[in-house]
Amino acid sequence: MSEVVQSVILDDANNSLIILDQTLLPGEKRFIELKTEKDVWDAIYELKVRGAPAIGITAAYAIYLFVKKYDVQSYEQLYEHFKKTKEYLASSRPTAVNLFWALNRMEERLKKESKNTISVIKTALKEEADNIYKEDEKVCKSIGEYALSLLKPGFGLLTHCNPGTIATARYGTALAPIYLGNERGYDFKVFAGETRPLLQGARLTTWELKQAGVDVTLICDNMASIVMKEGKIQAVLVGCDRVAANGDTANKIGTSSVAILAKYYNIPFYVCAPISTIDLDCKSGEDIKIEIRPDKEITTKWYTKPMVPEGVKAYNPAFDVTDEELITAIITEKGIVYPPFSENLKKIL
Ligand code: MRU
Repeated sequence: MSEVVQSVILDDANNSLIILDQTLLPGEKRFIELKTEKDVWDAIYELKVRGAPAIGITAAYAIYLFVKKYDVQSYEQLYEHFKKTKEYLASSRPTAVNLFWALNRMEERLKKESKNTISVIKTALKEEADNIYKEDEKVCKSIGEYALSLLKPGFGLLTHCNPGTIATARYGTALAPIYLGNERGYDFKVFAGETRPLLQGARLTTWELKQAGVDVTLICDNMASIVMKEGKIQAVLVGCDRVAANGDTANKIGTSSVAILAKYYNIPFYVCAPISTIDLDCKSGEDIKIEIRPDKEITTKWYTKPMVPEGVKAYNPAFDVTDEELITAIITEKGIVYPPFSENLKKIL
């Protein structure tokens, strides 16, 4: 990789989080400071920080900071404050399970330290958030190695949204094999779907891959079929926000259309999923809550003039669920999981 961009940084001395504002890319690479609970909530909701693992990392550091700043004497008071902050941060976005996973992990650590002094507890929370961050880099690298083992030099690859380094601690999930392959001379030809309506593919994935010297081509989302038909795609690689126990997978809106096309054209469809995104509490995709976002992201955002008549209704689900039968394999840091997913996901866990 040409340059490692760390999208979430703890500034412990200043009691703040520094994040790369992903809404300004590719035009501007600006880091902004988040100081309050509301700053963090807004940054997650507005997708200034985004991508399932990066949201989890942000939440973990944020809850440490807001607990650290709270001046209390007893564990009970601290726990009360923790729970309120946790609930607030957890309400920012509903679909990516990493947000809840990271906050739950922080809560477990807090409980484990309950007999310690307040100062020891606070230090332990920092350690836990650091662990979440550091582990994510290893997880992504390992997913990258497993995924790379399924790919051949010269492959054309289609990806959707931004499952990249800025969505994680480093490497990304579905972009990890592309980075590793690039370092090893695989000469992949990557096609990035622009990912309407918020353009994570166009704005972020092409930005990341171009910087790393990867051969990347932008297509509109509705061009996936033609590039597949023309034989330009040998595998599809996507990230995910939540995997249900039966293998149904929620990812950025439009992912399931790509999976349906991949099945039609007989192209392998791989989901790159950290173990932390597997949610056995969801039996199937029907249990995954899909975030609905404001109409204006479709109707007016990005346009100098509105592109629909005033008053026209819009429907803006931010994610869709890809049925497990469309998925060739789910690639985790512990190995590659093939169907039947309901049996094999449990085994890998
Ligand atoms: O709404 P976003 O941009 O947070 O959605 C992100 C995605 O859907 C990604 O594909 C997913 O989080 C995987 S990130 C490694």
